[in-house]
Amino acid sequence: MSHTPVDSSAAPTVLSVQDLHLSYGSNPILQGVSMNLRRGEVISLLGPSGSGKTTLLRAVAGLEQPHAGQITIANKPVFNGAAGLEVAAEHRNLGLVFQSYALWPHKTVFDNVAYGLKLRKVSAAETKDRVSDALKNLGLGHLADRYPHQLSGGQQQRVAIARALVYNPPVILLDEPLSNLDAKLREEARAWLRELIIRLQLSALVVTHDQGEAMAMSDRILLLNGGKIEQQGSPTEMYARPNSLFVAGFMGTNNTFKGRIEERRADDICLRFGDSTLWGKRCGAQEAQAGAEATGVVRVERIHLADGPGPNRIPMELVTSMYLGDRWEYVLDNGSTMVRAHGREPIAAGPRWVEIPPEQLWVFA
Ligand SMILES: Nc1ncnc2c1ncn2[C@@H]1O[C@H](COP(=O)(O)OP(=O)(O)OP(=O)(O)O)[C@@H](O)[C@H]1O
Ligand SMILES: [Mg+2]
Repeated sequence: MSHTPVDSSAAPTVLSVQDLHLSYGSNPILQGVSMNLRRGEVISLLGPSGSGKTTLLRAVAGLEQPHAGQITIANKPVFNGAAGLEVAAEHRNLGLVFQSYALWPHKTVFDNVAYGLKLRKVSAAETKDRVSDALKNLGLGHLADRYPHQLSGGQQQRVAIARALVYNPPVILLDEPLSNLDAKLREEARAWLRELIIRLQLSALVVTHDQGEAMAMSDRILLLNGGKIEQQGSPTEMYARPNSLFVAGFMGTNNTFKGRIEERRADDICLRFGDSTLWGKRCGAQEAQAGAEATGVVRVERIHLADGPGPNRIPMELVTSMYLGDRWEYVLDNGSTMVRAHGREPIAAGPRWVEIPPEQLWVFA
């Protein structure tokens, strides 16, 4: 999918979270999260189940109470733990889209979208204009009189987004907005959602646990792990320059080799696993000394197959070639390690050489 980076580095900050802490009972969930969202920017909150993504989103929305830290929306402090300040959710003026679209079943599409404006006592004429605009922006103009049960899942999801956009919030918060859609619709939806966000110059914080979705949709990714930000950066940085084994493993499809450091020459590391050795690059913050346990990670698409021995090649048995439509995937094994690789054509089972360019093998001690 084409990804148009937006240069928002000069844009003002619309949402700022500083050193946020939140516990459920004695259970610490957010442990010092800080982030800034600039105008026109899309940030994805990515992370495994239970890492605190939804909790962070709900804390920003005012639906959960942190016990320390600060949250500022459009230059207005809405939470300050030290000062005892807490602005109620309905006064934070955010657009919210939840995973369950939570549409009102007995209201039409129009009334679902209009509801928030009614609560805000917006006049009937203005409501009509703004709802019509929001529906038009989402390609729902012709469905205004339908009820939610008369819509497809994808259309319901658009209504939920229209409802969040109708009062022009400075920031929209979306929690797994696409997760109720099937795989194909999801891929289409992430393209139009990104297009919509850019066209309307929205600023969005999007929760997802799908790294492909996060990479496709966002300018920046924040990867949460156990209530802390493990790494943040552009999709390219996160994918190509992970600074921990956790990030390397979370982004992309990988082969991992667990072993020991056989030799180290500055940042070049020779990793031994079983009977094999491979040279790679030292990654991460840990010191790496010969003899230490280490893990090598290489993206599946960075492995090549060869017919004979050579530098950084190991012998393996090709077990099977699987057709994936746009490519083939090869499964190789040497009795103790399994490796997956990609290529353009099927390859017959039998002995092969697996080559991993040293700069593509990231070694974390
Ligand atoms: N109301 C609650 N009371 C107690 N613990 C909670 C509550 N809500 C969430 N938790 C716990 O907080 C942690 C973080 O939950 P959260 O919903 O933020 O995770 P998540 O990253 O959104 O995960 P998922 O990808 O599964 O949606 C989990 O361990 C969860 O069990
Ligand atoms: Mg969640």
